[in-house]
Amino acid sequence: MIGRLNHVGVATPSIAESVKLYRDLLGATKITETRVLEEQGVYVCFVDLPNSQIELIEPYGDNSPLKGFLEKNPKGGQHHVCFEVADILAARDDMQAKGATVLNGGVPRIGAHGVPVIFVHPKDMGGVLVELMETPKEAH
Ligand code: CO
Repeated sequence: MIGRLNHVGVATPSIAESVKLYRDLLGATKITETRVLEEQGVYVCFVDLPNSQIELIEPYGDNSPLKGFLEKNPKGGQHHVCFEVADILAARDDMQAKGATVLNGGVPRIGAHGVPVIFVHPKDMGGVLVELMETPKEAH
């Protein structure tokens, strides 16, 4: 059921500083504007790569879920990986039936790509926070 790798999430205390690394050090040329995902408590920006994306996320608001991560990793770091699935509710039910913990009580939220996403707890995935995202209907 696991599909295409959609993006790798990278937490950072400053998207502006991280953009410099991807643009100036690595030579990335396609980088989106930064915007807020209020419901998820993050600022987000995408670095487009030929085969995937890097999702830069910076805390937004006092209750950002990234706060704890950045306290442990003050310079930021790899935060999650995101795979596409055909049907988010079917994926959620499958994860839960197999005993994995789906964050947010298993309720999908609309992610940065405008499609529903869920997160699987890292304790059930070998320490990796996994985002599952319904494949966007339009072409990539
Ligand atoms: Co993500």
